[in-house]
Amino acid sequence: MTEYETLDAVLSRRFSCRAFTADPVPRDQIRKIIAAARKVPSWCNAQPWQVIITRGQATDRFRDAVYDAALSTAPNPDMRWPDSYPGVYGDRRRACGFQLYDAVGIEKGDRAASARQMMENYRLFGAPHVAIVTSPSALGPYGAMDTGGFVTAFCLAAQALGIATIPQAAIAAQAPFVRSHFGIPDDRQILCAISFGYADPDHAANGFRTTRADVDDIVEWCD
Ligand SMILES: Cc1cc2nc3c(=O)[nH]c(=O)nc-3n(C[C@H](O)[C@H](O)[C@H](O)COP(=O)(O)O)c2cc1C
Repeated sequence: MTEYETLDAVLSRRFSCRAFTADPVPRDQIRKIIAAARKVPSWCNAQPWQVIITRGQATDRFRDAVYDAALSTAPNPDMRWPDSYPGVYGDRRRACGFQLYDAVGIEKGDRAASARQMMENYRLFGAPHVAIVTSPSALGPYGAMDTGGFVTAFCLAAQALGIATIPQAAIAAQAPFVRSHFGIPDDRQILCAISFGYADPDHAANGFRTTRADVDDIVEWCD
């Protein structure tokens, strides 16, 4: 395999996992994920990313508490949510939502069932670990952009080790709760979480894959 093929294979196999087994990931494997992910570029090499990683009872304590918080508290993220998803972005958003609902057998328009599925975010989809991803507020959108690269590399490094992941903005929507639960200082923005562990291959929620736009829909060549 060429280096490109190896990288492309990892990129192709990665998917957002929405059902995990309870098996914990050994700490040396988690360290390997971070050791690889930290190699992404960042503006001025500031490396703005920091992660809090839970395991064992700490994951369960957070899972129970963030679920309760989400039941009773409206979303209040540190970083502004998109104002809208115009045009094709809305189409893609709806398409991946319907793929998930189809996979788990939720009928179109069944709001109670889709709300229940959404709340699975706050059960961390059964994952044994969650990483809370932050960046310094002072670095603003570029700090968030650099940290986004770190999140992607985290997911790919995990995939290369056979470990499944899902980045979750849903957890960042409960930023005030997450901040107080983990004692995150006010000068750091909570950007997202990454729940991770081993995929449950038989679970319906893991039974679909999202699509991508063609290369020619992405690039405007300028000769
Ligand atoms: C920053 C970010 C936040 C996301 N937040 C959520 C989330 O809160 N809940 C969820 O189910 N999926 C979430 N996802 C997963 C996306 O829905 C998923 O990446 C997208 O549909 C493409 O599918 P794939 O990851 O399986 O290739 C998030 C992904 C990213 C990159």
